[in-house]
Amino acid sequence: MSSTDVVTHHVENRIAWLKFNRPDKRNAMSPSLNRAMLKALEELEFRDDVGVLVLTGEGSAWSAGMDLKEYFRETEAQGLKGTRKAQSEAYTWWRKLRWYQKPTIAMVNGWCFGGGYGPLYACDLAIAAEEATFGLSEINWGILPGGGATKVATNSMSFRDAMYHSLTGENLSGKQAAQWKLVNEAVPLAQLKGRVVELCEVLLKKNPVALKAAKDAVRRVMEMTYENAEDYLIRAQEAANSFDNEGRKEGIRQFLDEKSYKPGLGTYDISRKAK
Ligand code: COA
Repeated sequence: MSSTDVVTHHVENRIAWLKFNRPDKRNAMSPSLNRAMLKALEELEFRDDVGVLVLTGEGSAWSAGMDLKEYFRETEAQGLKGTRKAQSEAYTWWRKLRWYQKPTIAMVNGWCFGGGYGPLYACDLAIAAEEATFGLSEINWGILPGGGATKVATNSMSFRDAMYHSLTGENLSGKQAAQWKLVNEAVPLAQLKGRVVELCEVLLKKNPVALKAAKDAVRRVMEMTYENAEDYLIRAQEAANSFDNEGRKEGIRQFLDEKSYKPGLGTYDISRKAK
């Protein structure tokens, strides 16, 4: 277990558990938490004993968003320089997480507000407790949902739902967040960790080079024309082949020659290398 106070992490069975750890402040993101998150992500990213990363929160919150005192009021008091520095520290770790080397899962255990949508969207997959609460609360205290939050809503939800969510400040339960596609699914809190571990185990069986290429491809092609996406995907696969050409050949071999699995129904055995 490693701890930098406001962020903790530990690795167990190839799963890195990364935690917001300011439960008394509902895991609000302060500048020091943002710096600690970047450091922890950098420490974990290329470790051979890490195959997947889970981001979760200690206590009753996943994250209550940006810290209104330390992130907004105190940095604004330092002028533009203070504001821009704080923004950069937050956005840098969310960006690192969006393009992380390993697949990532947001395990949303409780409150998730405003700025929390940044790291939520940065995680590749998101599983919430049905009892969790999601909200773009910014409108309730007089600002627009910034820090990417409006973009997260429009990328995840329908136009009507994103607009409603942004203007009313009404909250969603975990169950509703799944219906509105803000998360993949919601399960009762008591089953949350079990479900996330199950999902991690699925990912851990996949070819890691293919996983990284596939997760980046989903984010990239969203903003491309069909023609550009087609071209990007050819190049992305060719680049992946240069890292792991044998993996792909082994996947084909186990299906065609060995007949030990069917790609439509499962994954090839990545522990065995091409002969
Ligand atoms: N920024 C700064 N402090 C926050 C915070 C935030 N975003 N969210 C919670 N806290 C602090 C509270 O000020 C309180 O501090 P204190 O103990 O020193 O008084 C402590 O965390 C506990 O919060 P409290 O409101 O008592 O907890 P709760 O469980 O009753 O309610 C929330 C939880 C999340 C509903 C409520 O704290 C809240 O509305 N937070 C703000 C959410 C928000 O608008 N976030 C968007 C920011 S972009």
